[in-house]
Amino acid sequence: MILDIVSYPDPRLKTVCTPVESVNQGLRLLADNMLETMYAAPGVGLAAPQVGRFIRMVVVDYSSKEEVRMPRVLINPQLELQGELIVSEREGCLSVPMGYRANVQRYSRIHLTARDLDWNLIDEELENFPAIVVQHETDHLDGVLFIDRISRLKRTFFDSKVKKWMRKQKNTA
Ligand code: NI
Repeated sequence: MILDIVSYPDPRLKTVCTPVESVNQGLRLLADNMLETMYAAPGVGLAAPQVGRFIRMVVVDYSSKEEVRMPRVLINPQLELQGELIVSEREGCLSVPMGYRANVQRYSRIHLTARDLDWNLIDEELENFPAIVVQHETDHLDGVLFIDRISRLKRTFFDSKVKKWMRKQKNTA
């Protein structure tokens, strides 16, 4: 089932999400639906708060080949930021309207620990694009969007565009 995606400036996106304590059928179904929603968008990651569920779970697929899907579910992800600061070019987000993209500084390497849907421990190092995707999605669990990581000037400009865009949506609805 494709879920509705919560869009900025909805204040719910600022929620700090709570840890998942155990996996049940409902959580598995949510993960399935989040993956379906992510692929349909299409996107490379989706966090639970983006579909109105304020728990620490994200789904990602940072495989570059479109014909081979590599869906992953990360529960309670914890990151140790390593490596150097790199520019994540033209980052976007399914919750940020108008297809807005901007360069964001991210770490080139992370040490990720998380649980999967069988509650197995995930403990690995990720680099470059996979590391960037997981940083972006984990940010969502702390109520942080990529537009919170751009310059104040760019953000002000973007916010004024969003306001105009929202007025237009209202007038045409
Ligand atoms: Ni996002």
